[in-house]
Order: sequence, then C-alpha cells, then structure tokens
Amino acid sequence: MLKIVTHPDPILRETSAPVKDIDGQIAQLAQDMVDTMHYGQGIGLAGVQVGRLYRIFVTHVTNDKPRVFINPQIVETTPEVTEYEEGCLSIPETYASVDRSAGVKVQAWNERGRSFNLDADGLLARVILHELDHLNGVLFIDYLKERKRKRLMRQYERVQSR
Ligand code: NI
Repeated sequence: MLKIVTHPDPILRETSAPVKDIDGQIAQLAQDMVDTMHYGQGIGLAGVQVGRLYRIFVTHVTNDKPRVFINPQIVETTPEVTEYEEGCLSIPETYASVDRSAGVKVQAWNERGRSFNLDADGLLARVILHELDHLNGVLFIDYLKERKRKRLMRQYERVQSR
C-alpha cells in the first residue's frame, strides 16, 4: 500500500507534471493507486496524494469499474451545476458541500497507453473534477467560503490530533 499524504502537506499544492511515457512503472503506479484507494475506502485518488507529482488519477465509484486517467484533459463541462457533500482521502473525516458541473467530457490515456474519451455524469463526473483539481494543487476546501472553511479546518485539526 502507498502512503497517503494529508493536508496541510505542501506537496498537495503543487502542480503535477504530464506523464511522458506510459510504461510499466506507470502501470504499476496505477495499480498501486487503485489498491491504495480501495484500502482507504476512497472513490478517487490522484498521484500527488501518494507523493507522485504526475498527471494521473484513479476512480472507482459504485456500479462502475476502477478507472485510470493519465494526462487527462477536460473536453467540456455542462453548465448545469450540482451540489454534493465531498470528502478527500487527504483530508480524512472532513466533508463539505461543493458545487460542481453535473457532467464532464474528458479525454485521457489508460495504463496501457490507450487514449479514450469518457462522458461522465453523477458521482463519476464529480470525482473526475475533484481529482483533476488535485493535479493542479486545488483541494475541495478551496471552494468553501472563508468562515465555513475555517470552522471545518478547526474540526479537522481536532481529528488530526487524536
Ligand atoms: Ni481528494
């Protein structure tokens, strides 16, 4: 299992670099990330969260298969926005409502180096947008109003100090 980096580790604020070669090492990283995500009972995990600053993330939402996204690009997002309670393996036991586009079209490569396009909605769209943010150093708490974020972070500090 890989070690998950938690907030406020500054690496979570870094921008991840594109993967140059989708080789066996990247395929192994993807598999380790899927295992780590399952172990942590998460539904998404980005490379930066295991200390690897590559543009790669994995997802596994209910009624879907585990998916690997390498060098993902947003093709389109729907103007329609939905609100949902989000969490993050890097900010354990901390949840808040975040508005995001209800649907997203994304292009990426899988761990076998195959390009694919995916039209996602519902929870998968949300996870994809959340994980894409990680690749740019953005966390879901960044979307909260200051007062709400401060309150949540005080609660998080108590969780962390247990
Ligand atoms: Ni996260």
